[in-house]
Amino acid sequence: MVVTTGKPCNAADAPLLANPSGPGRFPLPMKEAAAVSIAPAQEVDLTLILGLIKELADYENLSNQVVATEAGLRHALFGPRPAAEALVARVDAECAGFALYFHNFSTFLGRHGLYLEDLFVRPAFRGLGVGKALLGHLARVALERHCGRFEWAVLDWNTPARNFYESLGAEANPAWVNYRITGEALERLARGRA
Ligand SMILES: CC(C)(COP(=O)(O)OP(=O)(O)OC[C@H]1O[C@@H](n2cnc3c(N)ncnc32)[C@H](O)[C@@H]1OP(=O)(O)O)[C@@H](O)C(=O)NCCC(=O)NCCS
Repeated sequence: MVVTTGKPCNAADAPLLANPSGPGRFPLPMKEAAAVSIAPAQEVDLTLILGLIKELADYENLSNQVVATEAGLRHALFGPRPAAEALVARVDAECAGFALYFHNFSTFLGRHGLYLEDLFVRPAFRGLGVGKALLGHLARVALERHCGRFEWAVLDWNTPARNFYESLGAEANPAWVNYRITGEALERLARGRA
């Protein structure tokens, strides 16, 4: 059973199918049907969320890049001008995963969009429909908030996640290449020394 709780996704409050694949259809080695609940993160979830961010970074072999702190996340998620929002997924009251997202903007569409920064389901809870429930919740948020797009990036080697996204109807966009400037290069550019 998938139950989505908390605003702004009241439309999703109705329980959905227990088996996310539908009756008799289990493309992954399916575990027992689980009670999945999705709720907006609360301040008390911050330690949990930082732990999940570190688990995701470990999965992506990027642990050395994680400098986030609980205080920083508190300010970003629950401060006076929140920069991002998060959802926590639970299975039978146990923390199963999370999603962290924020709004971006498309000038071409002239509308804001929804950008998924992190999606992570703990290994023991994979194949139960948790990832799909988190993305489904976010799809409803995107529609309720009149977003023009719902998008995210994925590491090119992350074939399981890419297959998962494509199984939901998402499409890769290889025409675009991400750029990032940080550290000394950022300082040099800012000071006119690039
Ligand atoms: C990718 C991830 C979020 C998927 O979550 P999950 O809870 O295991 O996936 P679900 O059980 O919700 O699967 C939903 C659907 O996707 C399909 N799916 C899931 N993983 C899949 C895979 N590796 N290949 C193909 N399809 C897959 C399922 O079969 C299911 O289809 P159905 O609805 O037709 O039955 C999870 O595996 C994860 O956290 N991976 C590690 C972190 C990661 O890669 N995060 C994304 C970073 S961009």
